[in-house]
Amino acid sequence: MKVLSVGGGAREHAIVKALDKSDVEIFSVMKNRNPGIAKLSKDILYTKETEVDKITEWAQSKAIDWAIIGPEGPLGVGIVDVLEKVGIQSVGPSQKASQIEISKQYMRDLMAKHDLPGMVDYKIFDNTEEVEKFLKDYGKQVVVKPIGLTGGKGVKIMGEHLLSTEDVIDYCQDIIDNKIGGSSSFVIEEKMVGEELTLQAFCDGKHLMPMPAVQDHKRAYEGDIGPNTGGMGSYSQEDGLLPFLTKDEYDECVDIMQNIINAMAKEGTPYKGILYGQFILTSQGPKVIECNARFGDPEAMNVLPLLTSDFKEICSGIIDGNLSSKKASFTNKATVCKYIVPMGYGVQSLVGEKVEVNEVKIKKSGAELFYASVDKRDDQIYTTSSRSLAVVGVEDSIFEAEKITERALSHVKGNVFMRHDIGKKDLIEKRIKHMKELRGE
Ligand code: GLY
Repeated sequence: MKVLSVGGGAREHAIVKALDKSDVEIFSVMKNRNPGIAKLSKDILYTKETEVDKITEWAQSKAIDWAIIGPEGPLGVGIVDVLEKVGIQSVGPSQKASQIEISKQYMRDLMAKHDLPGMVDYKIFDNTEEVEKFLKDYGKQVVVKPIGLTGGKGVKIMGEHLLSTEDVIDYCQDIIDNKIGGSSSFVIEEKMVGEELTLQAFCDGKHLMPMPAVQDHKRAYEGDIGPNTGGMGSYSQEDGLLPFLTKDEYDECVDIMQNIINAMAKEGTPYKGILYGQFILTSQGPKVIECNARFGDPEAMNVLPLLTSDFKEICSGIIDGNLSSKKASFTNKATVCKYIVPMGYGVQSLVGEKVEVNEVKIKKSGAELFYASVDKRDDQIYTTSSRSLAVVGVEDSIFEAEKITERALSHVKGNVFMRHDIGKKDLIEKRIKHMKELRGE
C-alpha cells in the first residue's frame, strides 16, 4: 500500500513514524529537508505543500493509494478535493469542511446556528468604530482573533497582550490595515478564564474516536510569558486525562466535538480526518476556543507514540466512513514533549544556524526524536524560521517522562532555546491550583 504524506514538520514526522509501524510505503511531500521524514520515505517531492496540482500529478505518477495531510495550508487550498478528483482519498477534510479551522467566523456561526454547548459570546467586525461602540456597552474583557490562519500567533487577549481598550482598537486597526490572516474582518470574543487543553479525535464524517487529552504551551518563554508561538511543548497524563481535568469534563469535550461534526453533517459538509478541539476549562465547564482540521503540533507527538492500534486501519476507517467498527487503543503512559527552537523564535528566528543532534545518545536516553522545520544539507542540520526539533519522553507518570525529555535535550547543541519548565512539578501544580481556585475548592 502506497501512502502520500504531506508536510515537513515534527507533526508529520510523528505521522510517518506511526505509519511506518504499519505495512505501508511512504511517499512524502515537503518544502524543507526533514531528515526524520526522509529516512522513512520511499520517495520525496520537495515542493511547497500548497502546490496542489504538482503534488497530485506526482501522487498519480507514483500510483498512491491514499493520502494523509499534516498541515492546514494545503487543506485550505483544497488538496483533498483535487486528490479525490483523480481517485485518491485522504485522511483530511475537504476544502469546505476545513473551514472549521480556516475561518473562525465559520466555526462560531456553525456553533451559534446549531446552539451547541461550549459556546462563548462573539461578534464579527470589519471596522473599529463598531468595535468602540461594542466595547463601551459590553463591559467584559475580550479576545481579538483574525478570521483566517495566523499560525497560532494572531490571537490577542485583553489583560495579557492588550492592556487597554486603546490597545484593542489599535490591534483591530492593524488587522484591517494589514489583512492579518488574509482578511480585514475579525472576531471579538468573550475572554474566558481557565486552563487550556487539547482534545484530538479521528472522525469519519459521523463517528468520532477521541485520543488522550494534551496541554500545549503557547508562550515562548518559561513561566508562560513572551510572544505566542506555534507551541513550545506539551504533556499528557497516563490515564488520558490531565492533572486538572476530570473524566466528566473530558467526556463533555468529546460530546461538544461530536455535536460539531453532527452539525457539519447536517449542513452537508461532513468532516473526515483529524479534528482538533482547543478548549478552555472554566468554572462553567469546557468552552471551545478553536477547532483545527488536523493533528496539533506538538500534540501529535504526545498521542501518536502511544497508539497501539494499527494506524493504517484507523486511516482506512476514516476514509471508508466505518470508524465505528474500529477501536483506537493507547498505552497508559504519560508523555512530555519539548521543542527546541532557533534563537529569536517568536520574534525573529536565527535562520541557517547549525544544530548538532546526537541521535544515538537521544535514543539511549529513552526519548523519541521528531525533526521539525530543519534543513539537512551536506550531512548537517540547519535551522529555518520555524521550530527545529522535538524530544518526547514516555513513562508511567508526567514527572518520569519529563526527566527522560530533559536527558534527551542535553544531546542537542546550537544557537537554540527551549522551555525547561514544561511538565515540571511547579508548572503542573500552578495549573491544578488555578482550577481549584476557579472551582472554589
Ligand atoms: N498546538 C497548536 C496547534 O497545533 O495549532
